[in-house]
Amino acid sequence: MADLGSARPRMIVDCDPGLDDAAALVVANHFADLVGITTVGGNAPLADVTANALLTTQVFGIDVEVYAGAERPLVADPRHAPEIHGEHGFDGPSLPELSRRVGDGHAVDYLVETIRSEEGLWLVPTGPLTNVALALRRAPDLVERLAGISFMGGSATVGNHTPVAEFNVLVDPEAAAIVLDAGGRILMAGLDLTHQFVVDDELARRLRDVGTAGAVMLADLVVAYLDQVEAVRGRRRGGLHDPCAVLAITHAELVAHVQRHVAVELSGAITRGMTVVDQRPGPGVDDPGGNVWHGHTLDGAGALTSLLAAVAAHG
Ligand code: BDR
Ligand code: CA
Repeated sequence: MADLGSARPRMIVDCDPGLDDAAALVVANHFADLVGITTVGGNAPLADVTANALLTTQVFGIDVEVYAGAERPLVADPRHAPEIHGEHGFDGPSLPELSRRVGDGHAVDYLVETIRSEEGLWLVPTGPLTNVALALRRAPDLVERLAGISFMGGSATVGNHTPVAEFNVLVDPEAAAIVLDAGGRILMAGLDLTHQFVVDDELARRLRDVGTAGAVMLADLVVAYLDQVEAVRGRRRGGLHDPCAVLAITHAELVAHVQRHVAVELSGAITRGMTVVDQRPGPGVDDPGGNVWHGHTLDGAGALTSLLAAVAAHG
């Protein structure tokens, strides 16, 4: 893939914590300059995911402002994932009291102003793409200002919340379509990639061994997540999705990409929210027709090593 530039990238993470979003924030804070955090309704309602993002910054000593954004998708009715992340997104462990406050102003205003004021930022969406679509609609010039957008969402194979649709894209397919069609450099960490970063009881054990307050919180969240996944899907195993979108930038050597055309299904009666990744043999990996760099292969062991290093350094 084309050169990703600076050794220590600067980025904004747009998220809906959730365990894996929290892990993404910790990885971003350790291996990049985390400039700001924005939140979007997704795994849980906006107020909950915003509190969870603030709590993550508090527990891991991340001195970055958190701005709350869109409560609901552009067109679709809101939907959340209580069966996976609990009703409030961080359900399960007993959590410390929140002492941090959300930043003044709307996340979309923050995104437009910040990206216009500094060239070369990465934008890393790890929730539904509502805030990002709203920002790009208001200010299409942002595409030229950004180093790129590295998002967790979609799938080149099966879905998770429907047979073919991944949660983040399913929640706001219209927003995802706007972002994928915006131009610029777009990196996709879909389920086919993120399931190569395994969440299981061994991950909880490795985190608990780190021993810091943050590491233990993440270990407890992993156990709560596995309990929920087991109840819904009958197995104690999942993917640690969201850090993959960060690692695609900070550890480009861990993720293999190929350029593909990706479109979002908006009208299919049973396929709405599907990302249709054109994997037909074509002119080659640098086919200029591709709008997305599709991450297809992850070094899962390397990803785990990076996560543990980040957690140990800041927990
Ligand atoms: C995505 O949906 C959420 O549940 C996770 O945080 C991740 O961003 C995976 O489909
Ligand atoms: Ca997420």
